[in-house]
Amino acid sequence: MYEFQKIITSIVLVVLVVLGISKTSDIIFKTDKNVVAYKVEIVEKTIAEEDKEVFDLASFVSLGNIEHGKKVFKKCAACHSINQGGKNKIGPALWAVMQRKSGELSDYNYSKALLNHGKIWSFAELNGFLLKPAKWIKGNKMGFAGLKDEKDRASVILYMNESSEEPIALP
Ligand code: HEC
Repeated sequence: MYEFQKIITSIVLVVLVVLGISKTSDIIFKTDKNVVAYKVEIVEKTIAEEDKEVFDLASFVSLGNIEHGKKVFKKCAACHSINQGGKNKIGPALWAVMQRKSGELSDYNYSKALLNHGKIWSFAELNGFLLKPAKWIKGNKMGFAGLKDEKDRASVILYMNESSEEPIALP
C-alpha cells in the first residue's frame, strides 16, 4: 500500500513539473512577443509621447513660462546663441535644439561624451541634463553647474522649444 502511494505521488509530481515548465515557457514566449510589439510602437511615438512615459510632462510644463525662460537663458547666453541662424560660441548654437539629436551640429567640435550620448533632446532629456550637466552626460565639456530650480528648468526648456520653426505641441 505504501509503495502504491509513493508511485501516485511521483506521477502527480511529474505532471506538476511538466505543467509548470509549459506555463513558464508560455510566459517567456508571451513576454518576448510583448517586447517586440513595444519596440515597433516606439518608432511611431512623438517626442512628447515618449516624454509622458518617463515623467509627468503636463505638470512639469505648467511650472514654467516662456518669459521667465528668456530671463533664465541669460545664464546660457555667454556660451550659446539661440537666435535663428545664430553661430556656435563656446557652446553649440541652440536654435531648434529641441528634437535635435544630441551632438548633431557638424560645424561644432563636441566632446566624445556628448557625441556618444545618442539621445534626442526632449523635455525629459533636457530636464535631466540641465539639472546636473556633468552627471547626466559624464565627461561632457559644458562648464555649467546646472539649474537647481525646477521652475527655471521648465521655463528655459519652454523658451528653447519656442526657439524653433517647429515647437513641440504642449500637453
Ligand atoms: C560656460 C559655457 C556654457 C554655459 C554657461 C552653458 N553651456 Fe550649454 N554647452 C556648453 C558647451 C561647451 C557644450 C558642448 C558640450 C560638449 O561637447 O561636451 C554645451 C552643450 C549644450 C547642449 C547640447 C547641444 C547639442 O547640440 O547637443 C545644450 C542643450 C545646452 N548646452 C544647453 C544649455 C543651457 C540651456 C544653458 C543655460 C541654462 C547652458 N547650456 C549653459 C557650454 C555652456
